Amino acid sequence: MEIDVFTLFPEAFDWFASQRHVVNALAAGHQLHRVNYRDHTPLSGRQVDDTPFGGGAGMVLRVDVVEAALRAHYGIDPVDLPARRRLIALDPGGRLLDDALVDELAAEPTLTLLSGRYEGFDERIVEHFASDRVSIGRYVLAGGELAAMVLCDAVLRKLPGSLGDERSAVEESFSAALEGGPEYPHYTRPAEHRGWRVPEVLLSGHHARIAQWRLAQSRARAAGSDRGDA
Ligand code: 6GU
Repeated sequence: MEIDVFTLFPEAFDWFASQRHVVNALAAGHQLHRVNYRDHTPLSGRQVDDTPFGGGAGMVLRVDVVEAALRAHYGIDPVDLPARRRLIALDPGGRLLDDALVDELAAEPTLTLLSGRYEGFDERIVEHFASDRVSIGRYVLAGGELAAMVLCDAVLRKLPGSLGDERSAVEESFSAALEGGPEYPHYTRPAEHRGWRVPEVLLSGHHARIAQWRLAQSRARAAGSDRGDA
């Protein structure tokens, strides 16, 4: 998997790139590149954004700037990119990122992520250069960088070699192994703390009964019965 992230704040990804599962994924041959729009802008003063036509608050990322960055990086007219690779504009109004979409993206050989800033993108960027718009939730962040990191995190940890224990990504919340439900509760030592006992079945060493109990717990959580809103 090769992920290219276009951003105004490449340094925002420093911490992310140092995380264990990301380091593991990169060591396994996956790639994460950052491209700064400013390095490719045809405008003076490293300008990348502008005030919105029609008025209003904030700044909008310019279509000519994004075109120049994509063209410089891929060496082709960016209108031809969406047919060749998954090119995702991070947009609060986009398709909601969930486990199914993460699986879909993790199966791609390459991904391009476009982070916007300020009020977002000139609409022509999304219309002509992107294959998808993706949102990480129905709220607005100040920029797409955190959303891009959320997406990369979720995708990279699905790739073989990025997690220490390969089973971790199979039987987890929202996975098919748990029928799309949330994960069961986990416990570790001590077996008792302030009188709070770990469920006996987990101490039994009886693997079939443990698996049964975990699935039942996941189903109960899916039904909302442990949140008091059933
Ligand atoms: Cl993808 N971008 C921004 N700016 N805010 C968001 C988002 C994306 N997803 C949820 N909120």
